[in-house]
Amino acid sequence: MSATLAGVRIVVSAGPTYEDIDPARFLGNRSSGKMGFAIAAEAAARGADVVLVAGPVHLETPAGVARSNVRSAAQMHAAVLAALPCAVYIGAAAVADFTPRACSPGKIKKQPGQDTLVLELVQTRDILAEVAAHAQRPRLVVGFAAETDNVAGYARGKLERKRLDMICANRVGVAGCGFESDDNALLVIDATGERALGPAPKCELAGLLLDLIKERLA
Ligand code: PMT
Repeated sequence: MSATLAGVRIVVSAGPTYEDIDPARFLGNRSSGKMGFAIAAEAAARGADVVLVAGPVHLETPAGVARSNVRSAAQMHAAVLAALPCAVYIGAAAVADFTPRACSPGKIKKQPGQDTLVLELVQTRDILAEVAAHAQRPRLVVGFAAETDNVAGYARGKLERKRLDMICANRVGVAGCGFESDDNALLVIDATGERALGPAPKCELAGLLLDLIKERLA
């Protein structure tokens, strides 16, 4: 019997962000939203009051979940902060770290003899770090870390630097886990230690992660 989360308000971010270059093009990433949507679905099934802030993905809204659709990192930042206060924030979205300084109003055209195009990118705001530092800080701030190498090391760094309660590290860039796949494997790190979850379907991992979150809320 899974742990109930009745009455617990949980905000989950999921999916990629798209950073527009011009009306025809954007910078995006390979997040499908499956991991975040699985967490939102399982939390709602356990009775939580769930807000899902979703980047551009082709997934159905899970039953009982209030969904807020966004496109860019700036829009995701605004939607997540507007959803506070909550008891738990889970940042499963793959938010762009950089966005074009300006979006060209017209389609950028190739010029004769032009071999390269230089785009100036500026850093986006770190939603997770801002939630963790917010006056209405959730009781639990849970981040994800998507890494191709030194997965645990980089994740520990993010846990400390962003002042999180818990981080879920996962490998990306290989088949069968991370982006797009139906399955994943998580290394969950918090002040009490580390727990390996999976490999397993993302919906199963969502349940195991919510069990840990419920323990931490007790
Ligand atoms: O969507 P799927 O296809 O199912 O894939 C799942 C996933 C691989 C996207 C997911 O499991 C995952 O790892 N999500 C986090 C991806 C990511 O952007 O990781 P990061 O290491 O770059 O960012 C660290 C954390 O900071 C994340 O919680 C991210 O949401 C957050 N962040 C990052 C930048 C930013 N500007 N604001 C943020 O809040």
